[in-house]
Amino acid sequence: MMALSWNLQCFRNQWLSLRPLTLVLAVIGFFSVTESVVQTSLRGEVGQNVTFHCPPEKQRTINLFYLQRDNEFVNGYHASKNVSKSWENTRLNKTGLAVQMFNLKVSHSGNYRCIIQYSNNQVTPTDIHLSVTANYSKPNVTISCDKNHGYSCLVICASQGGYPQRKMRWSGAVTGNTSSQMWKVLNSSEVPDPNTMLFNSSSTASFNCSYGEQKFLSCSVGNVTSELFKVCVPQKTDKKPGDHTMMVAAICAVAVVVIGLLLLLWTCRKQRQAGAAAGAVRPEEVIVLRGINKEEEAS
Ligand SMILES: *[C@@H]1O[C@H](CO)[C@@H](O)[C@H](O)[C@H]1NC(C)=O
Ligand SMILES: *[C@@H]1O[C@H](CO)[C@@H](O)[C@H](O)[C@H]1NC(C)=O
Ligand SMILES: *[C@@H]1O[C@H](CO)[C@@H](O)[C@H](O)[C@H]1NC(C)=O
Ligand SMILES: *[C@@H]1O[C@H](CO)[C@@H](O)[C@H](O)[C@H]1NC(C)=O
Ligand SMILES: *[C@@H]1O[C@H](CO)[C@@H](O)[C@H](O)[C@H]1NC(C)=O
Repeated sequence: MMALSWNLQCFRNQWLSLRPLTLVLAVIGFFSVTESVVQTSLRGEVGQNVTFHCPPEKQRTINLFYLQRDNEFVNGYHASKNVSKSWENTRLNKTGLAVQMFNLKVSHSGNYRCIIQYSNNQVTPTDIHLSVTANYSKPNVTISCDKNHGYSCLVICASQGGYPQRKMRWSGAVTGNTSSQMWKVLNSSEVPDPNTMLFNSSSTASFNCSYGEQKFLSCSVGNVTSELFKVCVPQKTDKKPGDHTMMVAAICAVAVVVIGLLLLLWTCRKQRQAGAAAGAVRPEEVIVLRGINKEEEAS
């Protein structure tokens, strides 16, 4: 903060005296400010890895280097001492002055501080905020329609395992309409898992079919959207003629084939029976006998 106020003071003085040089000074001032307030943020996804980088000043000997969350030691090293137990899911990169963190959980989110101590005992801290998110699953749509008490449809959109908490949203032409007679959200819920802290988000809506079929509807949570769906599809009063004739034709075809097979079976059986009755004379024998008769006639 000293550097910041000094720079601002300097900037103001220079502005008054040497206007042409103010651009140069403004740039210098900007760098001084960012250097004195070292604060970065890091994003990760549940199940993935992140790396905390602690920027060292070049060409200087380091005495110790470590990462902590709030006041809890995460990982680090000391040039001449063994350090305390580090977090299981972390690994130290001594040369790069970095700590890798694996298999992120929502609970790993928070404020971290990286501390480097140089051989002259000078300490430079870096604050790093880690935020861990999780993508919701694609919403699953369940539609159930009641045709008895006025035609209406109940639609449930449900998604699991997301973070942070997000409400299920509905979209489509009808949902922009404010008429609550046409459709309405009955309830919505976002339930966290006590262990993983991940949310299940769902919503139930009812559509009044007096207003006709509603197409191209969808629901979404975070940046994940369901398949398009439609409700109040016109009820089929009688079957389409096309379907009907196709069905009849198929049945006829099957019947013809079955009758044909039966007929074939029946004729085969009849022939076998006839053969047995004729004393089992084989066709070849008949031909031979005829041949002999012909020779007798010739001689
Ligand atoms: C995270 O680190 C582990 C261990 O090094 C590795 O096996 C895994 O592939 C990494 N995951 C991702 C998403 O990079
Ligand atoms: C650090 O721990 C290792 C193994 O536990 C031991 O051999 C070594 O002497 C220790 N070093 C110091 C500086 O305490
Ligand atoms: C559905 O809409 C019709 C026509 O506007 C209305 O008479 C009926 O009360 C509505 N039903 C429900 C359940 O809102
Ligand atoms: C939401 O409302 C529907 C219909 O009234 C009901 O079946 C369902 O259990 C409710 N869900 C929640 C989470 O309350
Ligand atoms: C979230 O949904 C999944 C799948 O339906 C279920 O197994 C789990 O118990 C739910 N979690 C909570 C906290 O309701």
